[in-house]
Amino acid sequence: MIIRPMTPDDILGAVELQRACFPPPFPEVLLWRPEHLARHLELFPEGQFVAVDTDNAIWGGASSVLISEENYNAHRNWDTTVGGPFLNAHDPNGTTLYGVDISVHPEARRQGIARRLYHARFAVVRELGLRRFATACRIPDFRTWRTQPGDLARDLERYINDVVWDRANDRTLSPLLHIGLKPVCGILDYMEDEESFDCAVLLKWKPTRPWLGPEVIDGDE
Ligand SMILES: CC(C)(COP(=O)(O)OP(=O)(O)OC[C@H]1O[C@@H](n2cnc3c(N)ncnc32)[C@H](O)[C@@H]1OP(=O)(O)O)[C@@H](O)C(=O)NCCC(=O)NCCS
Repeated sequence: MIIRPMTPDDILGAVELQRACFPPPFPEVLLWRPEHLARHLELFPEGQFVAVDTDNAIWGGASSVLISEENYNAHRNWDTTVGGPFLNAHDPNGTTLYGVDISVHPEARRQGIARRLYHARFAVVRELGLRRFATACRIPDFRTWRTQPGDLARDLERYINDVVWDRANDRTLSPLLHIGLKPVCGILDYMEDEESFDCAVLLKWKPTRPWLGPEVIDGDE
């Protein structure tokens, strides 16, 4: 499996991949259309990756955008943070590489493809001298965990703690924590996502810069 930058020739394969990775009840209207991915390549080709086999078949994909410090700190919903499917919030001077989507085909999971796509993203953070990588992760197993619904914000906090401390497994949040992303906070009303009760967990990763001393020096903790 090779991780490489996405090209226009990959667009139709990447659209198919996302369909296989986000089955119902995930809303079909939120899936990529070819014109979305074409725009991502125009705006920020450095942030778009695919995982392909030796026959160039696509098994994984990851798209990202650059967002401003103000945008990152606001912790808003998906639509506002990235600017919708055409990524209109992309800021070429942004300081955060923000993960818009990561998908690994169901038949290729647990083989380290997401980890390698993340390493490609982290390399972009280092190469562009950015402050951090961030993404908001869906939590599709929140629905089965939340058997006796109470206050949503409090349940979300408890669920995140359970997954972080390995008392519960979430098929999306658990892998991202294993890869090394750190939880920042839960976000209510992040996007229409029945399984996650429309919630998400903001996660971040920061490059270590030994010459700057402890990470707190740049005021992001
Ligand atoms: C989440 C997803 C990208 C993970 O991809 P993947 O290629 O299977 O992940 P990897 O094989 O790189 O695994 C990374 C780590 O997570 C662990 N992991 C993978 N799937 C897991 C699961 N279901 N539960 C717990 N841990 C899991 C792996 O063991 C590995 O940890 P380790 O190296 O410490 O052993 C994939 O399941 C997917 O595409 N899901 C559907 C789309 C989606 O929800 N995307 C995220 C949107 S926010």
